[in-house]
Amino acid sequence: MATVDTTTPVARPPEMSGNPVRRVVGDFVDEWRGRGKFPPGHTDFSWVRTHQIAHDPLPLLLDAYEEFGPIFSLRLLHSRVVFMLGPEANHFVTVGHPENFHWRESSFGDLIPLLGDGLLTVDEDYHDRARAIMMPAFHREQIAAMTEAMTIEADQAIVALPVDEVVDIYEWMRNLAMRIAMRALLGLDPDEAGKGAAAAEHFERALGYYGIDFGLRLLRGPGSPWRKLVSSREVLDEIVFGEIARRRAHPDPGRRDILSLLAAARGAGGEEFSDREIRDQLMTLMFAGHDTSTSTLTFMLHELARHPEVTRRLHEEQDRVLGGGSPTALQLEKEMPYLDTVLDEVLRLYPPAWIGPRRAIREYEFGGYTVPRGAYVNYCSWASHRLPEVFPEPEAFIPERFTRERKAALPRGAYVPFGGGSRICIGKRFGQTEVKLVATKLLQRLRIDALPGRTMTIRQMPTLSPKGGLRMRVSPRS
Ligand code: HEM
Repeated sequence: MATVDTTTPVARPPEMSGNPVRRVVGDFVDEWRGRGKFPPGHTDFSWVRTHQIAHDPLPLLLDAYEEFGPIFSLRLLHSRVVFMLGPEANHFVTVGHPENFHWRESSFGDLIPLLGDGLLTVDEDYHDRARAIMMPAFHREQIAAMTEAMTIEADQAIVALPVDEVVDIYEWMRNLAMRIAMRALLGLDPDEAGKGAAAAEHFERALGYYGIDFGLRLLRGPGSPWRKLVSSREVLDEIVFGEIARRRAHPDPGRRDILSLLAAARGAGGEEFSDREIRDQLMTLMFAGHDTSTSTLTFMLHELARHPEVTRRLHEEQDRVLGGGSPTALQLEKEMPYLDTVLDEVLRLYPPAWIGPRRAIREYEFGGYTVPRGAYVNYCSWASHRLPEVFPEPEAFIPERFTRERKAALPRGAYVPFGGGSRICIGKRFGQTEVKLVATKLLQRLRIDALPGRTMTIRQMPTLSPKGGLRMRVSPRS
């Protein structure tokens, strides 16, 4: 990222209207202004297509790619939405021309009621300044320090797993990831009844709002999902603002949680985050980091259960490197290359943040087509990772695709599970460390098998996850 001046105050991003009618009217106006400029595609109104994009988008997107190529339009609900797939398109959106796009006016904007103005929902100077202040909290040494909290929590959760029983592994990891987030991000003890447990519970409740169908999200009456979101947000705000005040009143340089780091963080000119900014960034980190790690670990266990030879090689590697001991952050990062290839292949097949929503803020050209200003645009890692001309036998689980040499030989933009460019996932190292640590510790002690005849269905709202969880049999490692 270019050097960012963190000293000059930047204006808060503009308010976004939460009024659905105003939004629909605005979308129609934008489409009308851009008429004649959208790439070709299926642009008639269709409930079936709208339903499919929310429930089973992969075949729809891959078929449209076959028919129209790397850029096409699909009408979803009332809007004509542009999709850009494949290496060149991903590179164009994330690295080549990110200046053409905003995140805030895309469907990321739907997150503002919970997240406020965190990294996912802001752009340009406001984003760059915040990211520059936050980056040190995600450096290698900080993640190494957080690995301690991850290890304590993972050990406890693994010991508590009932052996010789069937367990919903997705639920188990979700709980563990939430506990790690409480400690590492907020510095809260998840067992402390008043705060840690309440924060975890209300965060889960608030997230529930984003897993339901769009139509239900528009309801506003008593008992509606919206009201539940608002009441959980109030509880969370009280806890988080209380913690911020506590850290400001009693600064402790020894604390390594992100809340403390953000409270102490200063820009080049000594500028600090306001309480509201810290709150919004923390909520954003919790949101972005929780489901993603949970799903990644679950999908990994699903694939390992189907590929015993891969598990055997992972065992060999961890026995050789760790000799039964607990992995350090450095070992996880540098000394277990086979585990890296497995993680990369899991994230190819199931990138949890599967779609990158954007809004075009200026007209641009790609692949011989014009995209008008105001268009909703998405790149999609999930579909891009399944193109046979880029990843032969795309459905097969083959970690060897990601040996160092083969990974380096992929076309730029081919593999984007963490996005790319200056807004690449800020929690990449955190998430990778967490998943690799938990997977390593589980494999050291336990065997996790699929249930006979059990198939996995994927749901994609708000991130990819196994629909209804993933029940697996846990037994001791032989
Ligand atoms: C396996 C785990 C994870 C995956 C696969 C993942 C994936 C992604 C992707 C694809 C993006 C870019 C989205 C886009 O281009 O539209 C992103 C951004 C982001 N991620 Fe992650 N993520 C993971 C873990 C985490 C964790 C653990 C955190 C925080 C602790 C986090 C925080 C963020 C934030 C704040 C952004 C926005 C960055 C910016 O705009 O500057 N992520 N992530």
